[in-house]
Amino acid sequence: MEKSMPKGFLWGGATAANQFEGGWQEDGKGISVPDVMTGGTKTTPRHVTDGILPEYHYPSHEAVDFYHHYKEDIALYGEMGFKVFRMSVNWTRLFPRGDEEKPNPRGIEFYRNVFLECKKYGIEPLVTISHYELPYYLAKEYGGWSNRKLIDFYLNYCKVLFEEYKDLVRYWLTFNEINILLMGTYGNLMGGGILPPGRDTAVGVLAGLDESWDNEQRRYTALHHQLVASAKAVKLAHEINPENKLGCMLLSRIAYPYTCRPDDVLKGQQTMQLANYYCGDVHVRGAYPAFAKRLWKEKGIQIPFENGDAEALKAGTVDFMTFSYYSSSTATNDPNVPVASGNMMRGPANPYLEQSQWGWTIDPKGLRYLLNEFYGRYQIPLMVVENGLGAEDKVDEDGNIHDPYRIEYMREHIRQMAEAVEDGVELIGYTVWGCTDLVSAGTGEMAKRYGLVYVDKDNQGNGTLKRRRKDSFYWYQRVIAINGAEL
Ligand code: BG6
Repeated sequence: MEKSMPKGFLWGGATAANQFEGGWQEDGKGISVPDVMTGGTKTTPRHVTDGILPEYHYPSHEAVDFYHHYKEDIALYGEMGFKVFRMSVNWTRLFPRGDEEKPNPRGIEFYRNVFLECKKYGIEPLVTISHYELPYYLAKEYGGWSNRKLIDFYLNYCKVLFEEYKDLVRYWLTFNEINILLMGTYGNLMGGGILPPGRDTAVGVLAGLDESWDNEQRRYTALHHQLVASAKAVKLAHEINPENKLGCMLLSRIAYPYTCRPDDVLKGQQTMQLANYYCGDVHVRGAYPAFAKRLWKEKGIQIPFENGDAEALKAGTVDFMTFSYYSSSTATNDPNVPVASGNMMRGPANPYLEQSQWGWTIDPKGLRYLLNEFYGRYQIPLMVVENGLGAEDKVDEDGNIHDPYRIEYMREHIRQMAEAVEDGVELIGYTVWGCTDLVSAGTGEMAKRYGLVYVDKDNQGNGTLKRRRKDSFYWYQRVIAINGAEL
């Protein structure tokens, strides 16, 4: 007999506008940073270009066209029994440049229609306000989040969201994986909207790419601006509607000590402290953690605290904590241990665990470990808002997609969530990543599919966009129906 999840558990799926929506120039939408990022694969890098260059394919432009398929997609979520649908608003649909005072009414209308559609099926929207898609204009003209002015532009955008959708949305996440700004290239681009110099730069998760344009001080500055913006948004949301529930969202990190040498154990602890708690503490406890002072000193970093920032952080703590979890990594300070290839976290490979086709370590028990870590430190409700397996899928002659590997991945992770609940963790929801196939953020390709719903589209942008239910669709439908009591 399996353990079922707590009553009212929010089962669902997650997406992000720039990877899902398409319609990049529809109804007055402006250009976002991902709109100038080209497609890549697991072996070829993406490029970020200064404007749109004719020789490239830009996957966000059409993505899988949720913009014109939202009714069909949400109906499929209703059929699966979703209680929650995590999605993001594309900032440029509401504010094409980002610094306008008044929003674009057609953008407002689109999301209202999406939320109303969710309501039809009793699905609660969970809205990420900023998921890797800063308006390109703000990136180019203002230097992205390295510029403090972005705080006010963001708050103006938030105010419009909280007022316009006051009766339709309860759950908000201020920034997707805010702590990605602690990392190089993608931290700059997707997290901070900080562009490389030049017309055409190869970027991505592949080793060996030029990261010389990275500037750590600038990233920590941008991150401070986001943390202040996030706290102010939390306060604003509560003022506009005390029923609003605001969450933070972290790219979670496990760094098991590679050996039991105390040096490796310390390295693992320091890696996890920085990755999880530097931002987690600000969001949940309202202040930077104790270890930050030494870190700033050793890195020679000045955090641009202005009058009122400390108070703003204190006043804007979140109601719940969310995170993405795909895999774990290891840590060592032994330079002779080789780093695993394909592993975004860049630690040495874990000999006890298998990897996905994209080299991501698969570690369901890590999820239980992490849930206990986070709950132990913060004791506020937790939600796993991204988890899933990116894999190649095949459509057979009958048009079916058999994906037992994805079912297996989800089953094992959900089992470990149930264990964590038994451990005493207050877990309120789970949204599987890319519930409908979408563009990969890391590689910009379609071949890396996470969906329970298949979309006919390839890496070059060809395909009918037809949706098909995979085996995992029916499996998840049953899991939701019996609240995880049988997996
Ligand atoms: C998370 C992001 O880091 O990982 C998503 O929030 C992303 O946007 C997901 O898609 C999976 O990564 P990838 O590179 O496989 O798309």
